[in-house]
Amino acid sequence: TIEECRKLLTAEIKTFPDWPEKGVNFKDVQSILFNPELALITSHYLKELLPKQGANNFLFNKILCFDARGFLFGFDLAKASKTPMILARKPGKLPGEVITQSFQKEYGLDEIQVQAGLINPGDKVLIHDDLLATGGTAGAAAEIILKCGAEIAGFNFIMDLSFLPGRKVLQKYVDNDKIKAL
Ligand code: PRP
Ligand code: MG
Repeated sequence: TIEECRKLLTAEIKTFPDWPEKGVNFKDVQSILFNPELALITSHYLKELLPKQGANNFLFNKILCFDARGFLFGFDLAKASKTPMILARKPGKLPGEVITQSFQKEYGLDEIQVQAGLINPGDKVLIHDDLLATGGTAGAAAEIILKCGAEIAGFNFIMDLSFLPGRKVLQKYVDNDKIKAL
């Protein structure tokens, strides 16, 4: 069950206190990848959290995932839902015209970029990342989607550090039931 999956993740995900900075507890997705059975279970239940109506009618037509750890399971979700995947990358990595959004992170100011033309008015875009912490990263993606005149279909995370205000930040963009995490 999804509860068993959650328990497993809580037990298995290794935390590195005060890394990469004092006060930050780094939750290492490496612990999931190194355990193939856990990786399969995680992938399975992340798919269960995708917004859909009926068995295979997904309520989004594109999925945006973050450099770097968001790519690992994001591609699984794109394949499962047969939707185009958009790479949101750290600055300077993407060729061609890009859309840039800066944001405040747990550890300093940062930027993400998406290639121009991938998100269009009328699109319903799902956002996936491994971890919701302050909500800075996911919020920046939400801003890019809105700038493109598209809709935010929801958020999908492996982990929600619920003691941080990430969920509150994202509630500016969608109802709470569209912010899903294992
Ligand atoms: C981590 C994590 C999320 C983000 C969450 O990424 O993978 O993307 O921080 O934090 P936030 O909610 O406070 O924005 P990081 O920037 O460490 O890079 P990585 O994915 O490339 O390891
Ligand atoms: Mg990341």
